[in-house]
Formats: sequence, structure tokens, C-alpha cells
Amino acid sequence: MTLKKEDNEIGNTIIEDEKHLVLDHDYDGIQELNHPLPSWWSGIWAVSIFVAAVYFMYYVMMDGPTLQEEYEAEYSQVRKVIEAEKAKSGNFEIEEYLAFVKERDGIKKGFTVYEENCLSCHAEGGRGDIGPNLTDKFWLNIKSFDPKEVYTVVFKGVEDNGMPAWAEMLSKEEMMSVVSYVISLNGTNPSEAKEPQGVELK
Ligand code: HEC
Repeated sequence: MTLKKEDNEIGNTIIEDEKHLVLDHDYDGIQELNHPLPSWWSGIWAVSIFVAAVYFMYYVMMDGPTLQEEYEAEYSQVRKVIEAEKAKSGNFEIEEYLAFVKERDGIKKGFTVYEENCLSCHAEGGRGDIGPNLTDKFWLNIKSFDPKEVYTVVFKGVEDNGMPAWAEMLSKEEMMSVVSYVISLNGTNPSEAKEPQGVELK
């Protein structure tokens, strides 16, 4: 590149190499260089015109899906996943559970369900035997002590470790009631309790 510069009348400098780019008009002494656009820029521009034409043809002239239709199609996928997740944990809803426990005396029913199904492994008052102690703050399969988590363990079981899945043996109401009973046992500190297992939850 030639670095020789030359002043024009108002003191701008024009590089020798660019002289041929000066347009032959002049606005009050302001001169303009006509730099061609870089090819990558023109390329993107041309591609975007092409894409716009295809887009217009597909979505406006032909029967491409509308935004509403696309949203509905995607949302129905999401709904399927949500439904599948809910089914996996037995469609447990905390509102339904709380209403059930309060209005239908869930804990008392749960005591009976416990005596008939859980006592053999978790022992009197949940103090633990083959199965872990259910009265302390230590849990193997629960990450936060809330009814949904307890329900999910009861529903799915931990079959590899000897805890049956109760989904097929008990009704939803029986499971909700036994969960409320198990929760009521927490902190009862029975005598001869099995030693803590798992992680302490606050
Ligand atoms: C055949 C024995 C057996 C029976 C019957 C049984 N459990 Fe269990 N239960 C276990 C074992 C063993 C574990 C520990 C699983 C593990 O190690 O992950 C367990 C774990 C649990 C846990 C999770 C404890 C934790 O620390 O994560 C809950 C809650 C529970 N059982 C509730 C019940 C309820 C409610 C019933 C009755 C409906 C019941 N179990 C019946 C053996 C049993």
C-alpha cells in the first residue's frame, strides 16, 4: 500500500491507493469514497433474501404451520412428559393429599394400613427392623422431608433393597393415608429404635 497521502481542500487525507474510489461529487468539500461491500457481507445479504423468499412461500403462500399451531404441537409434547412424570409418582397432588388427610382422618386410616402392611418390616411405631427407622431425621431415599417424596418411595418402592412397591397393592387413598401416618411418626423417638440410616435431613 502506498502511504503517500495528499490533502484535499478541507484537510482530509486520501491514501494514494484509494484515490480511484473517490466519487466525483462533493458536498461542501466533503468527499466520499466508494468502498465496495466485503463479499462476506453481500453473501449474507443475498442468502437472507433467498431465505426470506422461501420463508414467505412456505409460511404465507403454502400451508406452513402458524405460530399458534407450532406452539400447540410443542406444548402437547411438554404435556405428555408432564403426564408421564405425574403417572410415575402416582399423580400425587399436595392439595389433594392435604385435603384428604384433614377431611377424611387420613392418619387414623393410615395407622390401620401400616399395621396390616408395613409393621412386619418397619416394626411398631416405625422404629425400624428389616426396614429403616421411620421416626428419625435420617433417610435413604428421600432428599427433602415432604409428603410427595415419602409417597413416591411408597408408590415405587426400592425393590432392589427389599422395600416393596405398593402401587399395585394399595389404593391411592391407602397410600396417602399411610404416608400421613409415617409423617406423623417423625420425631416420636420410640424405645429400641433402629440405628439411623442414610442422610440427616433438616
Ligand atoms: C418387606 C419389608 C418391607 C415392608 C413390608 C415395607 N417396607 Fe418400607 N422399606 C423396607 C426397606 C428394606 C427399606 C429400605 C430401602 C433402602 O435401603 O433403600 C424401606 C424403606 C422405606 C421408606 C424410605 C426410608 C428411607 O430412609 O428412605 C419408607 C418411607 C417406607 N419404607 C415406608 C413403608 C411403608 C409405608 C410400608 C407399608 C405400606 C412399608 N414401607 C413396607 C422394607 C419394607
